[in-house]
Amino acid sequence: MKLLSFLFTSSIGRKLIMALTGLFLCLFLVVHLIGNLQLFKADGGYAFNHYAWFMTSNPLIKTVSWGLYAMIILHAVKGIYLAMNNRKARQARYEVSAGSANSSWSSRNMAILGSIIFIFIGIHMGDFWREYKFGDEITWRSYTQDYNTQAVTWTEYTPVEGQKIYAKDIEGGHMLVAKDLYSEVYDAFRQPWIVWIYVLSMLALAFHLLHGFQSAFQTLGINHPSYSPIIQFIGRAFAILVPLGFAAIPLYVLFQ
Ligand code: HEM
Repeated sequence: MKLLSFLFTSSIGRKLIMALTGLFLCLFLVVHLIGNLQLFKADGGYAFNHYAWFMTSNPLIKTVSWGLYAMIILHAVKGIYLAMNNRKARQARYEVSAGSANSSWSSRNMAILGSIIFIFIGIHMGDFWREYKFGDEITWRSYTQDYNTQAVTWTEYTPVEGQKIYAKDIEGGHMLVAKDLYSEVYDAFRQPWIVWIYVLSMLALAFHLLHGFQSAFQTLGINHPSYSPIIQFIGRAFAILVPLGFAAIPLYVLFQ
């Protein structure tokens, strides 16, 4: 009880929540990016649709997903609260903002960058996640993989009422009957305005991570002259490579 009250009411507790939820969300980004890289495979969506089904049906991952939604909301709400408090504290002390003299552009705009990412997640989940889980416009595909040649063939599939996604081993191969989220993603990314939303949001994500990643380690007290430069290097590489990986997907589909 004391720990909870410390985490939610003290200023250091609130920063700890930001750091821990932020690092968890970084971990999610890596897993999500690796999964999404299946979209580059020229297999009619066999690997990606298999992955999407696994991620949305495995009971353990489903539980972790609910934790993920809670973390996104907690991180966003606490972040806005922290930014408002910082602003009030500065005004109360009549402090003159030193601007770029003692802080980076990213660190001064964390709340606005975070808000852009939050809105992006809302639009993004409203699009793919909602359609996959609750929509009825998504089409289906039936896949067969030959174990000897590894070749994958597929056909359009008409689901019956209450149809469930399933995968099973068949003689000499594997079969998957699934919702075709792959085509849904490809159809979306053939529209330039959607690609722009993704690319600009990934730019906001890059700047948010540029400050957020190393700031989380500092809050956790992982700060030492001998290894802080390494954390800073990993943080910068992460902030550039992860958003670049995400942005590459819609750009690849658009210019394919
Ligand atoms: C090109 C980039 C991206 C693509 C193609 C993509 C694709 C998808 C798809 C197809 C889903 C629904 C199926 C699933 O849960 O796996 C999904 C869910 C989700 N995406 Fe993305 N995504 C991208 C980038 C991002 C980014 C950058 C973020 C966060 C900043 C994000 C956050 C989420 C969240 C929170 C969910 C719900 C996950 C869950 O229910 O467990 N996505 N994404």
